[in-house]
Amino acid sequence: MKHLTGLYGLPASTLLDILNLASSYREGLKAENPSFDPVLVNRRVALVFFENSTRTRFSFEIAARHLGAGTLSFSASASSVTKGETLSDTIRNLEAMKVDAFILRHPSSCSAEFVASITDRPVINAGDGTHEHPTQALLDILTLREYFGRIEGVKIMILGDILHSRVARSNIFGLRTLGAEIAVCAPATLLPCRIDHLGVKVFTGIDEALAWADAAIVLRLQLERATGGYIPSLEEYSASYGLTDEKLDRLKRLLPVLHPGPINREIEISNLVADRIQPPGYSSSMLMEQVTNGVAVRMAVLHRLLSKHS
Ligand code: CP
Repeated sequence: MKHLTGLYGLPASTLLDILNLASSYREGLKAENPSFDPVLVNRRVALVFFENSTRTRFSFEIAARHLGAGTLSFSASASSVTKGETLSDTIRNLEAMKVDAFILRHPSSCSAEFVASITDRPVINAGDGTHEHPTQALLDILTLREYFGRIEGVKIMILGDILHSRVARSNIFGLRTLGAEIAVCAPATLLPCRIDHLGVKVFTGIDEALAWADAAIVLRLQLERATGGYIPSLEEYSASYGLTDEKLDRLKRLLPVLHPGPINREIEISNLVADRIQPPGYSSSMLMEQVTNGVAVRMAVLHRLLSKHS
């Protein structure tokens, strides 16, 4: 594996190799002052972000530093992109400064594959348009594997704005490769055409979807994109598709709940469901576990792509 631009087409053996290495890093992160073998010493990783980020950017930065790598941060808004510089010129200039790898977030789908085609340095997709967000899916899969002890045969329901979600696509590809059953649940306007061709069940009613699921991944309603005619109103969306205690009470069994963040509180997920780590109640929030697992997964990906000894 030279780049990580998506989970589509990656074999189970590659996914398991990353997940197993991430699990061992996750153990190390439980220490009060985690310390790791600096396998990436003298390596320089460029975080090239054309979109805002909190979790992905920070966790890549922490992951790189845990492994001894230096990080360089690039924000489009504070760069020469504002003067008209192109993506390819930006990458070529950073490459000329001897950057060892690119971690790219960009609003255009398939931009990571484009960058991979113009550089010989490893490229990691940190979210490109509505295409893929592979490390988010890997951390979701690691969180689910820790909870269930396996992925094969587990029924995962992805709820919400599937149409605009790179997280949904990466999860569908990765989880299916590892043998999970996947369903999506959303209003028809927020489902891509022929989503069933990706091998997923489709629900438009949340009660049915919850009854089917062993776990739910709730997606952010992408307010910047999904309000323009896709839904009648936020109130109606929230009443029909927001994950609340009332809906989980009807289920009457414990459901682990994941969300990639950032969350729109009281729109796609209620405060109670987002914040409840322990019962009483019928949900268990995995949100902070996901964030910590994000560091471990990104350490594993950086190790595999950049270490001379991987
Ligand atoms: N989940 C995720 O990608 O969050 P950020 O946009 O904060 O990185």
